[in-house]
Amino acid sequence: MHRAGCLWRRVGAGLGPGLRFGDGAALGAAAGLGPEAEGDPGLLRASSPEVERQLRGLALVRGGFMSTGEEAEVLRELEPVLGRRPYQFDHWDGAICGYRETERARWGEAGRAVLGRVAAAAFPPGRPPTPLVHVLDLHPRGHVGPHVDSVKFCGCTIAGLSLLSPSVLRLRSCRAPGQWLELLLEPGSLYVLRGAARYDFTHEILRHEESFFGGRRVPRGRRLALICRNAPHDTTPDPLGNSPAFIGDAEAEPPPPPRPPQ
Ligand code: OGA
Ligand code: MN
Repeated sequence: MHRAGCLWRRVGAGLGPGLRFGDGAALGAAAGLGPEAEGDPGLLRASSPEVERQLRGLALVRGGFMSTGEEAEVLRELEPVLGRRPYQFDHWDGAICGYRETERARWGEAGRAVLGRVAAAAFPPGRPPTPLVHVLDLHPRGHVGPHVDSVKFCGCTIAGLSLLSPSVLRLRSCRAPGQWLELLLEPGSLYVLRGAARYDFTHEILRHEESFFGGRRVPRGRRLALICRNAPHDTTPDPLGNSPAFIGDAEAEPPPPPRPPQ
């Protein structure tokens, strides 16, 4: 059983002691999709102008980041790996349904090219994505429920490439659930979540029945995502993947410090 996503996804809104996206000056230098970038505003819908302002540069999507040729080559490479696995419809963490997934570090020419552009465009200097890319294959009837990626295993930036079907990614404020932002993810697009969008909002991929972008229906077919994440600060990713098995363990409060002698 692959352990890729289960460690990253944390169901619900409560946040651990996550790191903030505080390196503003350094981040400004990130090429392409740094916090000053707008992405494509037509691909975003917000519950209010305030939310739009709050998440500007922190949640963005850029269409046409990957060419159709690159998409086809990456799919050719992934199909034999994914095709061997059945879709899972009852995942224990409750965050995701109707999916199969893998992690991949070695890519052909097209994968290397597009993932290199993602690293340069979306990640801050000195905080590159980890070499293992999370490949998530969602069945047409699958969806990703609202969750915040575990702060234990994922750093300040999440960047996702979408292949095959379009979909809608919705962010919802953990503190004020009436506040949301939706991103229209066309095939070939790249989205980036960082800072408040990564820590203070849940994210989800809407199921077919709910897949609307405003008045526009976004029919959900099979959708593939290549998701790049960086490591949390001051942790060295364990190359053997020898990490705690459950998010619940990982997020547990640390034990209290020893009491001073009375
Ligand atoms: C996840 C997730 C979103 C996507 O696997 O943690 O949020 O784009 N996926 O598939
Ligand atoms: Mn996630």
